[in-house]
Amino acid sequence: MPLVIYDTRIKGALNLKLFSVGPVACRPEVLEEMSKQMFSHRSEEYKKLHRETVNRLKELLETKNKVFLFPSSGSGIMESSVRNCVEKKMLCCINGNFGRRYADVGAANGKIVERVEMEPGKPITPEILDEKLRSNPDVEAVSITYNETSIGLLNPLQELAEVVKNHGKLLLVDAVSAMGGVEIMIDDWSIDVCFASSQKCFGVPPGLAVASVSEEALEKSKQVTERGWYFDLQLYEYYDREKDSTAMTPPIPQISALNKSLELMEEDGKKSQFELYSKRNDKIISGIKKLGLSTFPEEGYESPTVACINAPEKISGVKIYEKMREKGFELALGYGQLKKTTFRIGNMGYIRFEDIDSMLQALGEVLSENS
Ligand SMILES: Cc1ncc(COP(=O)(O)O)c(C=O)c1O
Repeated sequence: MPLVIYDTRIKGALNLKLFSVGPVACRPEVLEEMSKQMFSHRSEEYKKLHRETVNRLKELLETKNKVFLFPSSGSGIMESSVRNCVEKKMLCCINGNFGRRYADVGAANGKIVERVEMEPGKPITPEILDEKLRSNPDVEAVSITYNETSIGLLNPLQELAEVVKNHGKLLLVDAVSAMGGVEIMIDDWSIDVCFASSQKCFGVPPGLAVASVSEEALEKSKQVTERGWYFDLQLYEYYDREKDSTAMTPPIPQISALNKSLELMEEDGKKSQFELYSKRNDKIISGIKKLGLSTFPEEGYESPTVACINAPEKISGVKIYEKMREKGFELALGYGQLKKTTFRIGNMGYIRFEDIDSMLQALGEVLSENS
């Protein structure tokens, strides 16, 4: 099955090749699942779908932890992790906008938020985290953004997790743009809550989020007051265990699509899925370097799913984005303060190697036409 972005089987496909950072292009088989007739989320059909999807996620993540499906985007689980795992104080690791969002969510939910904040482009280091935890022994949980989508940086999660565990804290991981594209060892690295959205590496339309949740996180949640209702992990645990379902009506089309996407990943083998991401990324990075461009994050920490690229002096990131769209390629703008000076190329979902060649060729043309 060749990987193509637009496909005559996809109704209403844009005449655009997507190198976006989410929502991303989806495989036709995945989209087809979403056009099937509905059934009740209390029916046997749903229970089977729910169990299959959860089991496939557990396989992918190699975890014995509980895995829950949330009728929200990934930010919903961010809020859930804060409300369930923190009574008073948390520590947020920030080196981009999504790390900052975690801190905002903590503060908006009335928690005291301590921060580790790095200079733009720098990874969170185990030494700095250790120091911060020594001076703040009363934090209950630490949040880390594995793949900081806003700057295309992959934080050294395994080493950071070790530090968090040495201090005996709960570890909350935003893996929104990593899960399914990069290996995450939930149990080996002792991650308490690890979540992702459907519209990134799973190549599924938006509206669904997934999380693995440890026993320790569930225990903590029992002791925390004012967890709210919609994102109460105790409710998810009960409905998953007793009813193979969720308390509220779940987005059944997205769950069917995710189940299909996971089935396709299983067929190819988990390792080949990660290799595919890594090979596509190598091709993108070597291509942009041949064009004389460089990546924004510190060397060695570049994300395999999102390349954040410094725009050349004579042409802004916004112009590159606009000119590429005119040529039929949807890249992503730089994020926030980096909007003019960078642009991003997503490597998530349904992308084939020849599309990368044609995208790089178009990028070369845009650069020479505007220099
Ligand atoms: C790292 C990261 N965290 C959180 C989010 C927010 O996810 P959602 O839009 O699914 O709520 C995003 C979205 O791009 C992200 O990239």
